[in-house]
Amino acid sequence: MVGEPGGDVRADVVSEVRTFYDALAEDYDGMFREEPSSPLARAMLGAFAEVVDGPVTEVGCGPGRVTAYLSRSGVSIAGIDLSPEMVRIARREHPSVPFEVGSMWDLPGDAGLGGLVAWYSIIHTPDDELGALFTRFARAVRPGGWLLVGFQVGDEPLLLERPLGHDVSLEFRRLRPERVVELMVAAGFELSGQLVRAPEGREVVPQALLLARRVS
Ligand SMILES: C[S@@+](CC[C@H](N)C(=O)[O-])C[C@H]1O[C@@H](n2cnc3c(N)ncnc32)[C@H](O)[C@@H]1O
Repeated sequence: MVGEPGGDVRADVVSEVRTFYDALAEDYDGMFREEPSSPLARAMLGAFAEVVDGPVTEVGCGPGRVTAYLSRSGVSIAGIDLSPEMVRIARREHPSVPFEVGSMWDLPGDAGLGGLVAWYSIIHTPDDELGALFTRFARAVRPGGWLLVGFQVGDEPLLLERPLGHDVSLEFRRLRPERVVELMVAAGFELSGQLVRAPEGREVVPQALLLARRVS
């Protein structure tokens, strides 16, 4: 990434994110081990599973609950995550699903994927880097392939400082669906459907799930 616009900022963010999730990985797995509890989230995952023709990568898979859920739904899927601790836990919890340490910025640009899932994992990307990230996604997905993205809706980021006593902190960005759609479309996707649902359980803001297709 040397010499790319935003490369240094990106490297700093990547390192900060990895440190944060390595520290939190076991606690995160304890909190989010189950499959997504929202029926509406599962409906979007189900729709994705129905339309997609693999192979699929979940980028930012964390402990692998969504990767495993889609795998059980018949999707040929692998997970990648920046955090080696997250990947270690994902392998431990879901031994039949492939997981690797890797960055969503380094996806092969060979249009080899039938689908890509970014489930609450674009949320640490600096605002002015989001467009470039969707361009990476578009290069990784074949024409006619699918993209499923989930994120919290809003304008103000949430700064999590020393969560559960760990000596780390990280900003969680909330996004406006219309802006994310605009960036996805500029990168070469067309929107198939979007779902914005009310917060459930511990959630405090609405949640957006966008399903898009790589333009052929
Ligand atoms: C909020 S967690 C979501 C995990 C999982 N998708 C889930 O829903 O349980 C965000 C995850 O994205 C990963 N992540 C963030 N930026 C990434 C990047 N550039 N490449 C790969 N993984 C990344 C983090 O390490 C973390 O595990």
